[in-house]
Amino acid sequence: MEEEGALSAPSGVDTTRPSIARAYNAYLGGKDNFPVDREVVRKTDEVLPEVSECARANRAFLRRVVRYLVGEAGIRQFIDLGSGLPSAGNVHEVAQAIDPTVRVVYVDNDPMVLAHARALLAINNTTTVITSDVRSPQEILDAAEVREYIDFGQPVGMLLFAILHHINDWEDPGGIARTFRDALPSGSYVGISHFCDVSEEYPDEAERTAATEKIFNEMLGTGRWRRREEILSYLGDFELLEPGLVPLQEWRPDPNDPGEPFSHHWLVGGVAKKR
Ligand SMILES: C[S@@+](CC[C@H](N)C(=O)[O-])C[C@H]1O[C@@H](n2cnc3c(N)ncnc32)[C@H](O)[C@@H]1O
Repeated sequence: MEEEGALSAPSGVDTTRPSIARAYNAYLGGKDNFPVDREVVRKTDEVLPEVSECARANRAFLRRVVRYLVGEAGIRQFIDLGSGLPSAGNVHEVAQAIDPTVRVVYVDNDPMVLAHARALLAINNTTTVITSDVRSPQEILDAAEVREYIDFGQPVGMLLFAILHHINDWEDPGGIARTFRDALPSGSYVGISHFCDVSEEYPDEAERTAATEKIFNEMLGTGRWRRREEILSYLGDFELLEPGLVPLQEWRPDPNDPGEPFSHHWLVGGVAKKR
């Protein structure tokens, strides 16, 4: 019998193994996921039930950052790396509500993202989605479609939300971040969110986050809680904007939106500007 809300798989999508994009969609309460993805959620719920709230806090943080970058910093073009499945408040929707001419390139390596994002974006000629792997940063930077949408002579908003913690240590997340930073002109911004290892500051949380890291790695092959200094290093010598690298809800909370979700200490984010 088909499960309620059962979804047929677009071509190239393997429904026998969980994917990060689909599991994240399940954490957010979306419908673009399969039983294998929901199993990841079920397992982590047993040890760290706040992951879903953190995922929602991450989306709320993303929306605040994009609003800031378009509304106050004047950014008119974005590259969203590891963009995920379309969700409420996608980058182009938030940005284009302020200025409809803002251009956005979404990049993800999950075939489900391409299938769903194409449908969403077909109506919008300022926005595109490409299937590419952030572990090959130069390929992304050189891609004809990226060059068509992004003018590297003008400031760019580069979004690294909940993506670098899905790059393993041996895949060189620092080198990947540096290649992307180096391609940006002065006046560009990088926004980041990342799982943060707070085991020294909050030893009570260490066991639960370590158990979650183990589940993610066993089921998805990635998911790294890194020390704050390491996350800061991904921003290089960019100027870190106030209030710094902080639990997400502490980053410029919107007074008009007091009910925003809470991200806990182990998920931090910030924004930095290229001098
Ligand atoms: C946790 S989701 C975050 C989505 C979105 N950035 C957000 O913060 O709401 C991580 C996304 O990164 C994508 N991803 C993971 N590894 C990737 C890689 N090596 N290259 C491109 N995308 C990747 C996954 O498919 C998934 O959609």
